[in-house]
Amino acid sequence: MDILGISCYYHDAAAALLRDGQLVAAAEEERFSRIKHDYGFPRNAIQFCLDFAGIRSADLDYVVFFEKPFRKFDRILMSVLQTYPQSWKVFRESMISWMVDKLWVGSTLEDELGISKQKVLFCEHHLSHAASAFLCSPFEEAAILTVDGVGEWVTATCGRGHGNEIRLLKQIDFPHSLGLLYSAFTAFLGFEVNEGEYKVMGMAPYGQPRYLEKVWKLVQQNSDGSFALNMDYFCFHHSTDRTYNRRFADLFGDPRPPKLPFYTKVSGFPKYFGEPPANYEEICDLNQHYADIAASIQRVTEELLLGMARRLHEETGLKRLCIAGGVGLNSVANGRILRETPFEELFIQPSAGDGGGALGAALWAYNTLLGKPRQFVMQHAYWGRAYAAGEISSFLRQNNIAHAVIENDDQLSDFVVRRLMEGSVVGWFQDRFEWGPRALGNRSILADARNPEMKDIVNAKIKFREPYRPFAPSVLAECAETYFDLPQAPRHHPARYMLYVVPVREEQKSTLPAITHVDGTGRLQTVFREQSPRYYSLIERFGQATGVPVVLNTSFNLKGEPIVNTPMNAFSTFSKSEMDALVLENFIISKS
Ligand SMILES: [Fe+2]
Repeated sequence: MDILGISCYYHDAAAALLRDGQLVAAAEEERFSRIKHDYGFPRNAIQFCLDFAGIRSADLDYVVFFEKPFRKFDRILMSVLQTYPQSWKVFRESMISWMVDKLWVGSTLEDELGISKQKVLFCEHHLSHAASAFLCSPFEEAAILTVDGVGEWVTATCGRGHGNEIRLLKQIDFPHSLGLLYSAFTAFLGFEVNEGEYKVMGMAPYGQPRYLEKVWKLVQQNSDGSFALNMDYFCFHHSTDRTYNRRFADLFGDPRPPKLPFYTKVSGFPKYFGEPPANYEEICDLNQHYADIAASIQRVTEELLLGMARRLHEETGLKRLCIAGGVGLNSVANGRILRETPFEELFIQPSAGDGGGALGAALWAYNTLLGKPRQFVMQHAYWGRAYAAGEISSFLRQNNIAHAVIENDDQLSDFVVRRLMEGSVVGWFQDRFEWGPRALGNRSILADARNPEMKDIVNAKIKFREPYRPFAPSVLAECAETYFDLPQAPRHHPARYMLYVVPVREEQKSTLPAITHVDGTGRLQTVFREQSPRYYSLIERFGQATGVPVVLNTSFNLKGEPIVNTPMNAFSTFSKSEMDALVLENFIISKS
């Protein structure tokens, strides 16, 4: 039985294909369309899934949409968040026209895929989130927490899963939304909503949470774990062009200008920015204020999530917790939930945001609606398109690109190890691309994590990131505990997907300066031989050569672009940057 899950028209559009309950292929549309966070109908991702499975759309048994369509409402809401000129009247009208759009999505699916109405199913947005985590977790029974900006109306749920059943026990409704609270600060701090949340999380460690009292004026947590926003400070629920209002600005001062470069006295002036400006001190002080605000909203978000998780534990008595929804990508909060609540194990799949809804919707249909036993545990993130040696070779030949080939895998690893030890930055393109927003060793840019200059080198050559975006480490799973404060690291699934930020061990901070963030933490990826044989072998051999089985891993893309998909995307990124070498499967391209 083939079931296609689809998410689109809100955040990240994606498709996922299940065959007899096993995931076969899954991908976000942005990788094909090259439009970051593409939310349009995921034609390319769907075609990829069908091709991979060797079927046509007419062969599908079911197509499941990840929410009960609310397209226009959601779009208007997003527009409001992204400072689009809308009004309450428009918002209300869009609610009415939702009824029309609801029908429209169904017929789009029928038209695009040439399938009958009877095959189209709809799963609720937060149920898709819950299913996307629980039904592919290794847990027979677990508590479930979903938290995002907003689904249809719901913004968070608590529930439990057992076997192939999911029960959502409680929900919080719009406008009370942790995701939208965080997004309001994302906008206030000068970043794009739905894109800049990572930047707020990364900026927070540069600040002190000096404004906790003020942030707690905006939101309160109830004794049952639920929370409520004080809507006196927001306007995303009705406004024309802002997420927060004047009262919010009275509390926190002027918003951070989007173009203000970020550095503080702690980060210093990044070398790759050039010469410090005359008003360096003044800008440092200004950024310090904004970093303190970032630290405050991050802390409050963590406290709210901890409160919800603790209460959910009390109510269910369960030891395991599945998390999904965009807020599930807050890996600092996830690390604290593991360390500071009675839950012993968490499961979060790599596409925890709305893209993952495609997977959840398909799993829900197969396991819960059709009542089939669970067949699938997600062990890795490699569900995208791969390129065979023949395809890469003809691409290189057709474009007259000089290259070498190293057929032997050990020799290939040793070549890359040598280059990394010499200080090179290497593009590493292998097998199927990753599901979710993180590069996990199949579309990655690699460098030596031991080199204190490497952050600046990678930034100067490729990324031009500001200091609030730390680089992440990939470490052999069984060695992770030596470097990171994560007891029994291999058992924790979220660490496979860089979904925990944990302290770097005190004695190892000087060993791994390029991946240790300003607050002494790292967002590690544990690498397993079984799931990533080539990447594992590379890090293993790097460890044999240097004594440190850890590499710096950053996503294979230029700033602002989606992660690469094809050999051509990879070569173009390589050419436009100052990357030193590119490895496409066994093909090597070097800059002299
Ligand atoms: Fe969502």
